[in-house]
Amino acid sequence: MCGIIGYIGKRNIIEVLISGLKHLEYRGYDSSGIAILKENKILRYRATGKISKLESSLPTSLISHQESSNGYSLGIGHTRWATHGKPSEENAHPHIDCNRNFVIVHNGIIENFLELKSKLQHHKFSSETDTEVVVHLIEKNYNGNMLEAIKNTIKLLEGSYAIVLISRLEPQKLFFARKDSPLIIGIGEDETFIASDVISMLGYTNKFIFLENYDYGEISNTEIKIYNLNSEKLQQRSVNIVNWTPQMIEKSGFKHFMLKEIYEQPQVLRENITARVFSEEIVFSEEIKFTKKLLKNIQKILIIGCGTSYHAALVCKYFFEHVLKIPVETDVGSEFRYRECILQKNTLVIFISQSGETADTLASLRIVKQYKLPTLGVCNVIGSSLFREADSTIYIRCGPEIGVASTKAFTGQLVCLYIFGLYLAKIKQTISQKRYIELLNSIYKVPTYIEQILSDTSYIKQLAKMFYTKHDFLYLARGINYPIALEGALKLKEISYIHAEGYPAGEMKHGPIALIDKEMPVVIIATKGSLLQKVFSNLEEVKSREAKVIALTNYGVESKSIDYKLVLPETDEFVSPILNVVPLQLLAYYIADLLNREIDQPRNLAKSVTVE
Ligand code: F6R
Repeated sequence: MCGIIGYIGKRNIIEVLISGLKHLEYRGYDSSGIAILKENKILRYRATGKISKLESSLPTSLISHQESSNGYSLGIGHTRWATHGKPSEENAHPHIDCNRNFVIVHNGIIENFLELKSKLQHHKFSSETDTEVVVHLIEKNYNGNMLEAIKNTIKLLEGSYAIVLISRLEPQKLFFARKDSPLIIGIGEDETFIASDVISMLGYTNKFIFLENYDYGEISNTEIKIYNLNSEKLQQRSVNIVNWTPQMIEKSGFKHFMLKEIYEQPQVLRENITARVFSEEIVFSEEIKFTKKLLKNIQKILIIGCGTSYHAALVCKYFFEHVLKIPVETDVGSEFRYRECILQKNTLVIFISQSGETADTLASLRIVKQYKLPTLGVCNVIGSSLFREADSTIYIRCGPEIGVASTKAFTGQLVCLYIFGLYLAKIKQTISQKRYIELLNSIYKVPTYIEQILSDTSYIKQLAKMFYTKHDFLYLARGINYPIALEGALKLKEISYIHAEGYPAGEMKHGPIALIDKEMPVVIIATKGSLLQKVFSNLEEVKSREAKVIALTNYGVESKSIDYKLVLPETDEFVSPILNVVPLQLLAYYIADLLNREIDQPRNLAKSVTVE
């Protein structure tokens, strides 16, 4: 959903901006641009397509350029995921005012831009974007003081924004403002960065200030000043150390980040388990701030997420109902936020988000907070909005996830929430010691079993070769693996662009079975569990319509109706989703690779969906 970066310091400004944008490219990649100040003039360069296109379009003289006699350079950059206005050079950021005094990059959506634009009739607009209105408002509101102009401008804006600006009228400073879109200041030695995420600044610093809603301010080469619209006082913000390393954002010999992240799963899951499970005891030290009394009294759980994180919510519904024996409801953020949900007291509301910045999930969180219900975030990014706004947050310790298709964050979410579910079940005394130990043991073994799956992927590659030219896939499963059918289908469609449906196998006969013919590959989850015989009946229904059946199953499960059998390590039925998703991630990956897709940055998608 657009990535922004700004820099002030003594490094080569172009290198910093381009390298930052390349790291931000996962957030949007339909056009990009940079702006710097040179001889007190704003220089702006923009291009459609990938950052490499922008980079190759820059004049060579600019690349060796260093601004200002004191050795400090400053500039801003942007990579775009189009919302208002098609991807084009005119619509690419940075945007500039009529007199070329101010230049801005923006992430978010200005919802009232048309109304604001109608009041700026004497201004010359050159794009279809909502952003451009902001720079013209700054121009209108500027009376010799940038901070005043920013304050008076952001008071008029409705919607979300992370904004970074430079001005030739106050040339030694970067200016910024934030509401509902992430913006982080990176503090280096005699240099400062500002960007949409920490990843783009990791090569330079690990010290960060996470800006809060309604913050605005300025960064010079000597100080950072942060004000807040609500209090209008100078703010003191803590500096956070993030222990991610630059190596974590390298492909490390893998062809794509997605493949690297699939292979990282055993290690990150092990880390999540060993951080919280000590022999038979589960400890959530600082993460869970709720009292035992509050947890004991929980009578209902509501889980909200989007996309893959929603699929994690669905799996957890089955798991929680099994171990907690209380009703569990799930919803996607975009639906929850607009429905008249009846929220009862003693409900724990869980929000799952890898990025912690998904707009619909955050909007739902803010609604729930008004009801004063306990809120628990499950998140991979320290300092993200979800992290800061939920009452407690479980950190899923997966390291940066860069591939747009979520893989290790999904299994990380499941492992952490399973451990939380068992922790809560112990407090609420809804689980027998025997079942608690069985499940805990099965969770312990998950990393090793995933290692086994990853140690030989030749059969999955073979299947990919057999089926990559197909136009439609069906994924079927029942019970706790039904959400894995949804997730398998989502992985395939988002990175290969092949149409795929995930369905509860028992629902086939109510309509979708009409789709099946001999051209249709059907991926069915038939691992051991209480519903295996039911799955077999569904398998027969599918096979008798001549579909090609690919089954995920265990040693000893036999059926003549299975054409291609992927044998997986056997585990507890309730833990099996965490294993079963891995071959489906790989199948989608290898199919997309054979089709030469842009796997880490599929068309039309962005990693962090910070707009509604
Ligand atoms: C799919 C995928 C998306 C995200 C969704 C929510 O592979 O990655 O569906 O899961 O956009 O993102 P987060 O988890 O950051 O809220």
